[in-house]
Amino acid sequence: MTMLMGRLAGVALQLALAALLVLFLPPYYVYRLTASFLGSVFPDSVSGKVVLITGASSGIGEHLAYEYAKRGANLALVARREASLREVADHASALGSPSVLVLPADVSKPDDCRKFMDDTVAYFGRLDHLVNNASIWQVCKFQEVEDVNYFRTLMVHSHMPFSVLHTNLGHELT
Ligand SMILES: NC(=O)c1ccc[n+]([C@@H]2O[C@H](COP(=O)([O-])OP(=O)(O)OC[C@H]3O[C@@H](n4cnc5c(N)ncnc54)[C@H](OP(=O)(O)O)[C@@H]3O)[C@@H](O)[C@H]2O)c1
Repeated sequence: MTMLMGRLAGVALQLALAALLVLFLPPYYVYRLTASFLGSVFPDSVSGKVVLITGASSGIGEHLAYEYAKRGANLALVARREASLREVADHASALGSPSVLVLPADVSKPDDCRKFMDDTVAYFGRLDHLVNNASIWQVCKFQEVEDVNYFRTLMVHSHMPFSVLHTNLGHELT
């Protein structure tokens, strides 16, 4: 009797799962197809737009700059290492960016943030996309941190995106 009940429960579970798949899979595929069709008919073009990327001297920010450059976007590149930024700018120009502005700045300093936002708008006349990427990240055990200044650095960096966005108030972004 118990075995029969177990089997019935198993069959009921399988039927319920099959019903769920039949109910949800078709609308999901219709949504995916529609989204992909609309994406190919109306691509979100960044050609000619002005894109500011913080943390553009290396890593993810650098490669985002190259991807935007390939799509014809104008770039404002921000980071502290000016020499690295200039190398990224040269490469971005070679990849197709019509105009690249190099803005050495420390995003943990509100005055720097205000300045690179204003300089971008003054140079290009507008700012369309803000890629707020600059940051530091580190993984370690709490007990391994002996210097409390370490936390100060992390706090300053976690404040960065807010600082950049805050100084962006007044410029219209799309
Ligand atoms: N890579 C990953 O697997 C991963 C995973 C999760 C999250 N993330 C996040 O993604 C972002 C980028 O990561 P990533 O791997 O590309 O790091 P990365 O190679 O170390 O690049 C960090 C960038 O931020 C800039 N930067 C750091 N502090 C700055 C400051 N105070 N002012 C201005 N620029 C500053 C650096 O340039 P300068 O030194 O020239 O200033 C550099 O261009 C970070 O926010 C990170 O937390 C990365």
